[in-house]
Amino acid sequence: MGKCVGILTAGGDSPGLNAAIRAVGRVLARNNCRLIGFKDGFEGIAFDRCTELDETTLSNVLTVGGTILRTSRHKPHKMPVGKKVMDMTGAIVENYHRHQLSALICIGGGGTHKSALLLKKAGLNIVTIPKTIDNDLGGSDSCIGFDTALNVATEAIDSLHSTASSHKRIMLVEVMGHKTGWLTLGSAIAGGADVVLIPEIPYNFKSVADALKSRSRAGKLFSIVPVAEGAIDEDTFVRIKKLEQEISLCSDKAKKSSLKEELSKLTAYNPARIFDLARRLEEATQLETRVTILGYLQRSGTPSCFDRLLAAQLGSCAAQAVLRGESGCMAAYENGSCRMIPIEEVAGVRKELSLDHPWVKNARELGISFGEAVNTTGK
Ligand code: F6P
Repeated sequence: MGKCVGILTAGGDSPGLNAAIRAVGRVLARNNCRLIGFKDGFEGIAFDRCTELDETTLSNVLTVGGTILRTSRHKPHKMPVGKKVMDMTGAIVENYHRHQLSALICIGGGGTHKSALLLKKAGLNIVTIPKTIDNDLGGSDSCIGFDTALNVATEAIDSLHSTASSHKRIMLVEVMGHKTGWLTLGSAIAGGADVVLIPEIPYNFKSVADALKSRSRAGKLFSIVPVAEGAIDEDTFVRIKKLEQEISLCSDKAKKSSLKEELSKLTAYNPARIFDLARRLEEATQLETRVTILGYLQRSGTPSCFDRLLAAQLGSCAAQAVLRGESGCMAAYENGSCRMIPIEEVAGVRKELSLDHPWVKNARELGISFGEAVNTTGK
């Protein structure tokens, strides 16, 4: 028997994880290597909860959503153990060697890549595969799960058209994406939305209301408005920037921690925010407004064909890197093919939707409003 390789899935689940695990398993098996799956993210390798992934266990998982290994957001160096939070890096290193692993493949998003880098620095051979429905991981054109989530969000927006139109309503649709607007903008364009609110472009409340009123005046009887979980208005954006600056300059420990608490209240996901926006818009426009939260449906179900193809390519690319003895790298998808790039290029690097991205440009060309303040200075 050749090498023995470990694999785990960490962070929020996404459709296509099983397709990636299966691809890794098939390539390794064809090369006479063993694959061990660690359960519940990094917890599995910290507490040695594992299972053999062979042809039998990997059969019939390609189309199944979620992850057969389960997942968690717990980090190796900050892991809840009973009532305590402990650094479990030592235990992970020990279990890695006890299983005589040649490498550990970690499939995950932003948080997972930061943890993967820590484990690399602790001396382990780490190889990663990018997944996140938010599509906000640096280094890869697309991440496993994004395409499926985009399809789910677009189909939901498609469906909402009939009820919005029947009742002549404004329909706010909350789409996942706490820090970035890939999913929201993609589904807004694909679904024919009218206004879109994304974290990268803080919105002006009056501009949003004006855009909706002007649609109504033009005889458009309903409006669809996808809103990213992390969309914020201009005032909140200014308060966040001011708090960040105050925190960076503050030397008083107690004051700093209260400023941080204030900041996290503004930046944390708040499900009440979209209902508040709906109430204010209804008041300002005198148009009936309703909210739909797509929530976890976006992360559930069968992976799309694109995500299966992506998972198959990335899984194979990662497995082949392990067979060649490479480590400290991520399988990245670029212009239709895959290559390995250093984890350092990815860990902590958020892929934001830049304002000159073709999608942003295209949305503007199509007349989709981002709710930006109208420039009255003429400059
Ligand atoms: O994994 C990314 C994501 O789906 C975000 O879009 C969303 O904000 C978050 O996860 C929800 O996370 P949780 O599963 O911890 O509620």
